[in-house]
Amino acid sequence: MIFYFSGTGNSRWAAQQLATLLEDTALDISQLRQLPDLTAQLQIGLVFPVYAWGPPEPVLHFVKSLPRTKAFCFAVCTCGSQAGHAMKKLAQIWPVNSSYSLVMPNNYVIGSDLDDQQTIRCKILAAQKEIKSIAIEIRERKSVYRVAEGSLAGLKTTVVNYGFNRYARGTGAFHVEDTCNGCGLCARNCPAHTISLKDGKPVWAKKCFQCLRCINECPQRAIEYGKATKTRGRYTFEKNGNID
Ligand SMILES: Cc1cc2nc3c(=O)[nH]c(=O)nc-3n(C[C@H](O)[C@H](O)[C@H](O)COP(=O)(O)O)c2cc1C
Ligand code: SF4
Ligand code: SF4
Repeated sequence: MIFYFSGTGNSRWAAQQLATLLEDTALDISQLRQLPDLTAQLQIGLVFPVYAWGPPEPVLHFVKSLPRTKAFCFAVCTCGSQAGHAMKKLAQIWPVNSSYSLVMPNNYVIGSDLDDQQTIRCKILAAQKEIKSIAIEIRERKSVYRVAEGSLAGLKTTVVNYGFNRYARGTGAFHVEDTCNGCGLCARNCPAHTISLKDGKPVWAKKCFQCLRCINECPQRAIEYGKATKTRGRYTFEKNGNID
């Protein structure tokens, strides 16, 4: 059984690729009504994006509900470039046999420019290759730690990640432009259930996961975050990651 959390599709794609190679099933943790019975599972996997050099809060919350079994446990994080000690932080609460990172297209549109199409293509081609290696190692039950931690990894995962969760997950800067047609997709798809429609336009409750699905996925490109996102592109795996 492979569980995943994904804002913009990278981690969903990686989980589904692994599930295909391992003849396993990939389940979205944000859609789970209840935890399936895991007692007979030979392997349990977890795939998620890195947020400020740490695992997203809903992922940490989810793993606390996982029973301790004899299954081989592995985790794969997807990140734009560096995961810091995200996997070490995860391992403190969920004992994993193997940890990996996959460098994937950056979706952090509120903080930086996004990758161009050439970079997206290169990252996905490299990730496809890495996923095949990961699947072989999981089948062989190898214990592996192959994570692109980057510099000052410990500091980023402790200090900066704490700051992110404490101060940067407010929704105050999200706003909607007149091009919004009230389709409601952002509200329906928000994994934190933070968005509702008021007079046909989205409004945000105070805090969210910062998965950036709403801003990246809006078909009208009507959502902005402060002023910085006006000149930036948008990224979802579905729209930009199809390199075939
Ligand atoms: C709030 C937030 C914080 C992020 N922080 C990092 C980071 O610390 N390091 C990194 O390499 N990428 C970072 N990213 C980029 C994502 O981890 C990366 O694009 C990931 O593959 C997105 O996965 P998803 O499409 O499954 O949501 C961040 C993205 C978001 C939305
Ligand atoms: S997805 Fe975009 S167009 Fe649809 S309601 Fe949300 S902001 Fe408006
Ligand atoms: S409000 Fe937007 S960024 Fe926040 S959790 Fe919902 S979809 Fe993700």
